[in-house]
Amino acid sequence: MAGRARSGRARVADGDRRRDDASAYGPPDLWQAEGVDVSALGNDLSRVLYTPEEVQDRIGELAAQVDRDYEGKDVLLVGVLNGAVMIMADLSRALSIHCRMDWMAISSYGSGTKSSGVVRILKDLSTDIAGMHVLVVEDIVDTGLTLSYLISNLRSRNPASLEVLTAFRKPEALKMPVEVRYVGFDIPSEFVVGYGLDYDQRYRNLTGVATLAPHVYS
Ligand code: XMP
Ligand code: MG
Repeated sequence: MAGRARSGRARVADGDRRRDDASAYGPPDLWQAEGVDVSALGNDLSRVLYTPEEVQDRIGELAAQVDRDYEGKDVLLVGVLNGAVMIMADLSRALSIHCRMDWMAISSYGSGTKSSGVVRILKDLSTDIAGMHVLVVEDIVDTGLTLSYLISNLRSRNPASLEVLTAFRKPEALKMPVEVRYVGFDIPSEFVVGYGLDYDQRYRNLTGVATLAPHVYS
């Protein structure tokens, strides 16, 4: 129960029930009624997981935790491009403490929905993180492969501390020996889009989060 509360699931129990009742290809007006603008998306999305309001509320809670934990410290937020753009923008603006920001781009996925297991650094940090308090900001942790690579890479640069915040986490990630200190939402093992998450570079700019209908990628 504590885990559910921490991940923000408990708060939306009523909404979950409503969404579970909806058929896989429910009417677009249902999605709109829940605050997600999917009017132009036809049947590509199958189920709304979190509305924009639910996402923003949860980020406010995470920011309050980060404020408390990093009070009096100089924190560097390291956003992982491209998916973390939304959470970085919203989280950083919800913080009361000062923070710096830097970005990395790494690649573990191709244009499909399966992890390739191959991690490449496409863009490295501009900051020397030695002695800094680093908080990695991720969009989603799925298998955890990308994150465990990133963590060992960053740890070798001797930061004062190194923690991870992710907007979303899938159950597979729980098997990895990588500790994620702040989790927005634990979600099912389905491919999701919105709030920075893409399918083939689309849907990142949805303000809520939804599952992608299998017919889109099968
Ligand atoms: P791993 O498996 O290494 O994957 O933890 C992390 C990266 O995989 C992408 N990913 C997704 N992207 N919807 C997406 O749009 C998803 O459901 C999803 N699951 C994993 C993402 O790029 C993430 O950083
Ligand atoms: Mg992606």
